[in-house]
Amino acid sequence: MNYNIWNRRYTGSKYKLSEWITSLIENNCVGTSFCDMFAGTGIMSYAMLNKMKKIYINDFLYSNEVIYKAFFDNEPYDIDKLGKIKSRFNDIKADTLRENYCSKWYGNKFFSYNDAKKIGYIREQIDLLGDVLNKKERNILIASLLYSIDKSANTVGHYDAYIKGKIVEDKFIFKLIRPYSIEDRDVIITRKDANEYAKKLKCDIVYIDPPYNSRQYSRFYHVLENITSWNKPNLYGEALKPKPENMSEYCRSNAPLVFKNLIDTLDCRYIVVSYNNTYKSKSSSSRNKITFEELENILRNKGTMKVFSKSHQYFNAGKTDFNDHKEFVFIVKVGV
Ligand SMILES: C[S@@+](CC[C@H](N)C(=O)[O-])C[C@H]1O[C@@H](n2cnc3c(N)ncnc32)[C@H](O)[C@@H]1O
Repeated sequence: MNYNIWNRRYTGSKYKLSEWITSLIENNCVGTSFCDMFAGTGIMSYAMLNKMKKIYINDFLYSNEVIYKAFFDNEPYDIDKLGKIKSRFNDIKADTLRENYCSKWYGNKFFSYNDAKKIGYIREQIDLLGDVLNKKERNILIASLLYSIDKSANTVGHYDAYIKGKIVEDKFIFKLIRPYSIEDRDVIITRKDANEYAKKLKCDIVYIDPPYNSRQYSRFYHVLENITSWNKPNLYGEALKPKPENMSEYCRSNAPLVFKNLIDTLDCRYIVVSYNNTYKSKSSSSRNKITFEELENILRNKGTMKVFSKSHQYFNAGKTDFNDHKEFVFIVKVGV
């Protein structure tokens, strides 16, 4: 089976909530353009694709940008060519390959040694294919590698640590993603800091789902970022991370101010915000940087606000235990 956009593990993915959020948007907002400003997996853009004429997808991670371009860019691609390349990648025998960047750093840690060799070799091959691929085909191959990596990684779902104390088994299989047909819709993909992006954006409905705790996405998904950028930097520490990049202000103590600046800047008809009540959590890294009351006050100043809620069991790495986990959606009709 080919991968759909939601077939990956991603902290805070709204996949299981996307029908609920979409129906709230449909019942409470009017418009033809939608912006997914902290898009993560891109599942909310996918859910709104058939309902809007124009979709803006933004996130500041390199790996997410490549994934959105692979699924949504409206450029032709040769599926037979990609199928042949996929077969070639799956015929690779690890024992015929030399040590490479991925096996050196990640072997027997985030992946088995053989899988890491294959992953490093395939990533290099995608670049060596050069003009054989157009941009869309190249993005499809890199996104497919990222989705395939997620299935063979020795982790609980993110890369803040790998699982220690067990033999890491070979399980890497290269599978292709399934790009979506865009037809007459306009999809605009960007990799910008949300607050900078908001200064230029004009859109009917803006969906906002930032991180609310201290866990930085660029540090959680550093392996995917590194394999996408492929600059092969030195890596540091137990979790083999590169030097920090794309550190989010939403994960720091001035998050309420940054959030307020974003809301004040937005030029749109409706603002839709996702929020959950993890701020009561025992673990300090899971505790929210913006409280429910702060969020309410900031949003109320922008127009007429409605709040919706739903109980939801979240994916987490095990440290946090919520019995009364609630997911909230705020919808603000701007300026009324
Ligand atoms: C909670 S996740 C979004 C999940 C997404 N709604 C989904 O369903 O997959 C937050 C996202 O915001 C991105 N992010 C964090 N700070 C950002 C910033 N300042 N500008 C743009 N994106 C940012 C992260 O990379 C992450 O993907």
